[in-house]
Amino acid sequence: ETINVTGLHLLPGAIDMHVHFREPGYTHKEDWQTGTDAAAMGGVTTVFEMPNTHPPTRSVVELRQKQECARKARVDFGLYGLMAEDNIDELEALAEAGANAFKCFMGNTFGNLPSPSTGAMLEGFEIAAKLGLRVSLHAETASIMAWRQAKLQAAGINHPLAHIGARPEIVAIEAVGRAAALAEWTGARIHVLHISSAGELRPLAEAKARGVDITGETCPCYLMLDSSDYDTLGSVIRVNPPVREAKDSTAIWDALKSGVVDMIATDHAPHTPEEKRRESIWEADCGFPGVETQMPLMLTAVAKGQITLEEYVRMSSVRPAQAFGLWPMKGRIAPGAHADIAVVDLTRREVIAAERLHSRGKITPFEGVETTGAPIHTLVRGRFVQKDRTLVPDMAGHGRQVTDIQKMPAPAPRNTDQSLAAVLGQKG
Ligand code: DOR
Ligand code: ZN
Ligand code: ZN
Repeated sequence: ETINVTGLHLLPGAIDMHVHFREPGYTHKEDWQTGTDAAAMGGVTTVFEMPNTHPPTRSVVELRQKQECARKARVDFGLYGLMAEDNIDELEALAEAGANAFKCFMGNTFGNLPSPSTGAMLEGFEIAAKLGLRVSLHAETASIMAWRQAKLQAAGINHPLAHIGARPEIVAIEAVGRAAALAEWTGARIHVLHISSAGELRPLAEAKARGVDITGETCPCYLMLDSSDYDTLGSVIRVNPPVREAKDSTAIWDALKSGVVDMIATDHAPHTPEEKRRESIWEADCGFPGVETQMPLMLTAVAKGQITLEEYVRMSSVRPAQAFGLWPMKGRIAPGAHADIAVVDLTRREVIAAERLHSRGKITPFEGVETTGAPIHTLVRGRFVQKDRTLVPDMAGHGRQVTDIQKMPAPAPRNTDQSLAAVLGQKG
């Protein structure tokens, strides 16, 4: 099969380390078919899917159930296993059954999974270090948020901006700093999800400077929206963590260019219009779809000269592949190595319209935004899954779980103490 790519660019497909495809349990919001259709349309060839489904992906039974749901995937995928207070003893079995990374909700969000104590996290990190799997963190401190939100709600405050008040920057600064200390102690590799504030860049950069294997991602909404958008977008803009001030997006852009923030992900989090548009900001579900709009939005930043095309590829593909050990070839990480490719037209103009998006979630804060640059074709392992801006028939089910995750030797832990497992072992 030959195609004419004159005037087009071949990029390694985007790797999105952060999507919520909702199946099992919340298929009125999304499922593995609609979610991976959206990915293929967006030039995304691999996604890592989050465990806050129903039931949550907390042990081998639920992981197998999710693998079954994912059989209809159009693009390749990794699966997160949950790391929570009550499933630390399941982590090894989860890894053995094929979990590709762990997700730890330090703060509360959709699905209401309780956040683990620092003690449980310490032991979870020890185990993850031994297993060689990265731990991705929803790095917000639950107790600070609970305290603040209760006060704001009691005061009857219902403006969308109150969502920022309930999650002041310190929730992320505290959480990133604490997680980095635990990672340094245990030798665990960690990843800070959805960086939204200038403040958390400092503990992230400091941990990197100390040699902690810590990576960070941000999402288009934290780069392209700010507090001035709350009045027009209302509860549609509600996302955890919240979109903050213009000074935050400026700082995150700089950190992304310098490499302190490693990568772009989307936190693709679809909900129905009814779930998003609630009277009270406190009742609206958090998040919006993003896996299909990331590439057009970021290529628009390339067209405007905010970043170079090479920088974009580093953020969307190279760094995620390196951080999560994907596609090792001859001892190197080689994104696109399996012919996972997005063929893009850097000049194509489109207008984002949710009704044309393939996600079941039809509410996006980017509705009506004009973009320059779009993936024209998407190939996964050498096969077209999207061609000429259309889904290729019969390619649902082409997606495979990534199995060639490189189990990298864990960095040397800093602790001089013994791991809990070793202490328990000694007691016999
Ligand atoms: O806004 C969010 N939505 N943030 C999260 O952390 C979870 C996500 C969801 O699953 O809806
Ligand atoms: Zn999160
Ligand atoms: Zn998320």
